[in-house]
Amino acid sequence: MKTVLLLKSSLFNGHGQSSQLANAFAAKAFPGAQLIERDLARDPVPHLDGERFSAFLSKKESRDEKQAGIVAYSDALIDELRRADAIVIGLPMYNFGLPSQLKAWIDHIARAGETFRYTANGPVGLITGKKAYIFATRGGTYAGTPADTQTPYLRDFLAFIGITDVEFVYAEGLAISDASRNAGLAAAKQKMESLVS
Ligand SMILES: Cc1cc2nc3c(=O)[nH]c(=O)nc-3n(C[C@H](O)[C@H](O)[C@H](O)COP(=O)(O)O)c2cc1C
Repeated sequence: MKTVLLLKSSLFNGHGQSSQLANAFAAKAFPGAQLIERDLARDPVPHLDGERFSAFLSKKESRDEKQAGIVAYSDALIDELRRADAIVIGLPMYNFGLPSQLKAWIDHIARAGETFRYTANGPVGLITGKKAYIFATRGGTYAGTPADTQTPYLRDFLAFIGITDVEFVYAEGLAISDASRNAGLAAAKQKMESLVS
């Protein structure tokens, strides 16, 4: 049985357009899969700060109780990623970037020695053999332009940890007019169908 990690980051939880697309895709593409669902807006990962990052760097034997708890929490997020065969991400655009809730998750799974390691030839990703599907929803239209900072950022980050097989599905123009919203959602659904069949 396949395992799917479903990450949602819309402020509107399950009602967000990105969440609805990600939910629908996970159900269609992976029927019967074991779903690990994380709604990062409903159950936010804390922002990374100095204390948390120091805990990540600390040696196991010298950690105090608080540091051990911080590392265990990050380990659990990484374990979900390791267990997944596929990762489905709902990615709204907020203020030209990623939702901060998703960035906080990224900051907790980017751990040297766990999800990537440095070698003489540069960094090597350790989360391999997985495919990611990103459902990007925007009020305006940006895909394929320099204003779309989300696509290269997420593609680069996922490649950094070893996930190089990534599909982006865009639903754009959602805030321009009813017609453009309908067209944006229809385009996303059509692309979704092509990925499922
Ligand atoms: C706080 C906030 C900031 C937003 N910033 C942008 C933006 O910079 N560019 C854009 O095209 N749309 C922007 N939008 C519109 C969202 O991208 C759009 O509503 C999309 O559906 C969000 O995905 P969601 O429905 O899954 O939350 C913003 C919406 C909110 C609530």
